[in-house]
Amino acid sequence: MLEKIDSLKAAIETLSAANKEEVEALRIKYLSKKGEISLLFNDFRTVPNEQKKEIGQKLNELKNLATEKINSLRETVEEKQSDSNNLDLTRTASPLRLGKRHPISLVREEIISIFSRLGFTIAEGPEVEDDWHVFSSLNFAADHPARDMQDTFFIQRNPDVLLRTHTSSVQSRVMTSTEPPIRIICPGRVYRNEAISARAHCFFHQVEALYIDKNVSFADLKQTLLYFAREMFGKDTEIRLRPSYFPFTEPSAEMDISCHICGGKGCAFCKHTGWVEILGCGMVDPNVLDACGIDSKKYSGYALGMGIERITNLKYRVKDLRMFSENDVRFLDEFEAVH
Ligand code: DAH
Repeated sequence: MLEKIDSLKAAIETLSAANKEEVEALRIKYLSKKGEISLLFNDFRTVPNEQKKEIGQKLNELKNLATEKINSLRETVEEKQSDSNNLDLTRTASPLRLGKRHPISLVREEIISIFSRLGFTIAEGPEVEDDWHVFSSLNFAADHPARDMQDTFFIQRNPDVLLRTHTSSVQSRVMTSTEPPIRIICPGRVYRNEAISARAHCFFHQVEALYIDKNVSFADLKQTLLYFAREMFGKDTEIRLRPSYFPFTEPSAEMDISCHICGGKGCAFCKHTGWVEILGCGMVDPNVLDACGIDSKKYSGYALGMGIERITNLKYRVKDLRMFSENDVRFLDEFEAVH
């Protein structure tokens, strides 16, 4: 009897089955009423009393082993079969959860793509700058208020090392190192010493454009502005130029577009004027050309600069500037991923 138990035990440990039917056959062979283990239990009656304890224990162990083994074989084949039954090769692959592009990146890319269609190429410069590139070369008088400590983050005084307050500094970097014609677009981050609120931040983003060649005129500037406004905000967009002042351009202007939100009828966003300001621009001041080593008698040019946050607000109506830098995924989730 003990030998029989041992040989069954060895056989059961190596059992295998390819499908449900084979598992069922094994169950019948070992565990059914007439199965081999049940027959052993029948024979148990004939075992002498003094061996009953030992053999009874072994028999029970054998039965448990067989039950567990057969159950686990059943589970394995059922899993395999249900996997292959559910396999639908026509189903689309489960979607990968893609990250979203930050709205500032989306708008920056869009601005760059519009200007690149006009032949502008990207130029970049450092965020940590010196006074000459940010102010002096751009015709800022020595006592101009923008140099004031309140606007500019200084890293060091004398010689001045500071965080650029506008991307116009890239203009002077490119002009001092490149022969005209120059046709560049300069996206980048800028810093100003402002109290952080819904409408102001100590850092934000700008895009600057500069075009220098022979005979560049204000008409070229205006046509570029109109093209940009209509590509960015739709073909019915109107533009309006208001005289303004910047040290580095003469004449200077600010450009408004017909309010994108109310279509020019007047709403809270445009303060009921029908127009919203989006950028500053003008003809590069001859002083700037000369300071950067470009002959102002031979060349002329235009420049323009805009805040990316402002354009983004107009396009996506983000009301609080702080949302751009809080990195809240719920905010980012609202923007389409573009590849
Ligand atoms: N740099 C100006 C600013 O930060 C923006 C600007 C105005 C840039 C007029 C220009 C320009 O190139 O022509 O406010």
